[in-house]
Amino acid sequence: MESSIMGHVIELTYVIAAASFILSLKWMSSPGTARRGIIVGELGMLLAIVGTLMRHEVMDYSLILVAFFLGSAIGVPLAYLMPMTAVPQRTAISHAFGALAVALIGTAEYYRHTPHGFAMVALVIETLLGFLTFTASLMAFGKLQEILPTRPITYKGQNYINLSILAAAILTGLYLMFNPEQTFLYPVFAGLALTFGVLLIVPIGGADMPTVIALLNSYAGLAASAMGFALNNKMLIIAGALDGSSGFILSVIMCRAMNRSFTNVLFGAFGQVQTSAAVKGEAKNYRSASADEAAEILESSRSVIVVPGYGLAVAQAQHKLRELYDMLTKRGVDVRFAIHPVAGRMPGHMNVLLAEADIPYDKLFEMDDINSDFAQADVALVIGANDVTNPAARHDQSSPIYGMPILNTDMAHTCMVIKRSMNPGFAGIDNELYYLDKTLMLFGDAKAFVGEIVKALGASK
Ligand code: TAP
Repeated sequence: MESSIMGHVIELTYVIAAASFILSLKWMSSPGTARRGIIVGELGMLLAIVGTLMRHEVMDYSLILVAFFLGSAIGVPLAYLMPMTAVPQRTAISHAFGALAVALIGTAEYYRHTPHGFAMVALVIETLLGFLTFTASLMAFGKLQEILPTRPITYKGQNYINLSILAAAILTGLYLMFNPEQTFLYPVFAGLALTFGVLLIVPIGGADMPTVIALLNSYAGLAASAMGFALNNKMLIIAGALDGSSGFILSVIMCRAMNRSFTNVLFGAFGQVQTSAAVKGEAKNYRSASADEAAEILESSRSVIVVPGYGLAVAQAQHKLRELYDMLTKRGVDVRFAIHPVAGRMPGHMNVLLAEADIPYDKLFEMDDINSDFAQADVALVIGANDVTNPAARHDQSSPIYGMPILNTDMAHTCMVIKRSMNPGFAGIDNELYYLDKTLMLFGDAKAFVGEIVKALGASK
């Protein structure tokens, strides 16, 4: 009787947790509701953990408590000390540990019970994805943290070798599905999956890692979902499927926004050749202006669209930008922010940055919602953004970013660009925008330069 009541309580916590995850994903997709989404997601996870700890299979809490304190001692400082620009590598390392946990649980299940039938099918999928995601995520972490060489490393026959190792892992896994008692094969299977994870990342450049991490997120979710089938745990099936599908959708969005295919990201060795185009560009003419001149132009505008990019995050200029926003709006200037889906280095990078400085959400516009307004704007103020504004993406078929949707900054009446030099951005190519008659280059660190504009505006009060 007692155990059936407990069973219902556990089921109920799982249902509420699953609903919380779905709501969390929905709310996290908009800046205005993102905080609520995160809190609901965390509560859902807490319920899922509590529900799982109430299961009758859990008989001793002492080791769980040790793991809880150890994990918290590592996780809490990691969350607080990690700067926002390092979030991609933090995500990579947490996927690595999540995937390792999944793979180890699968391995323990295999050696303890040697499951047969459907449970073994699920276990093989779980451990294959878990092991390869573990090493691939570790490699991604190493490249993003620059512990490993960030450039794509390619060699002859690479794809052939990689696919052969994957095929060997899948074939060994298939054999194990039907012959689970052949335990000697399991280490071979795990070794092949671990090796494939390493080799998968070797040819991918550090700069492509955020997209790859979204994909690895998807694999880790699918591995957890498969683990749910192997352990007969509905919560894991649901949470893993949500994680798997949202990670996959995110990587599709990122690929589309960069006009790249999955195969191009995984096998294209993008970002290998970097500087030649930029050197070519140095001979061309461009105009530059001072902070005082920029302040004058901004002050006399009616409508300004700010385009934030990676440099804004590097300079941590968001709070100065907030001051500029306040000063201009006080003077009756309409200031809006245009957010490109892949501005910065991680999904939602600019949204998080601007939210940190409490810039009102209703002033943030997605690319498709604001692109047609640039033609009526007096000023497009580009701060530390480069590739996402490059008009070459529209017409230059030889450009590596050809076809990538861009923000129409070149259509504004005047365009001002804050950056430190004429150096290229992520794609390593020159930006045509800088040489237009309507463009003024504002050279300097984003935080310092925006600060100077704010000072100039303050002085002119
Ligand atoms: P980028 O094209 O990378 O350009 C950033 C610019 O910021 C650079 O040209 C740099 O010029 C400037 N900068 C750097 N530090 C600065 C500082 N302290 N102060 C002022 N400027 C500074 O950035 P973007 O326009 O945001 O485009 C993002 C790129 O990353 C796209 O190509 C996208 O495909 C790629 N990418 C994005 C993601 C996601 S999910 N967001 C993931 C993978 C790849 P200086 O050196 O001259 O200052």
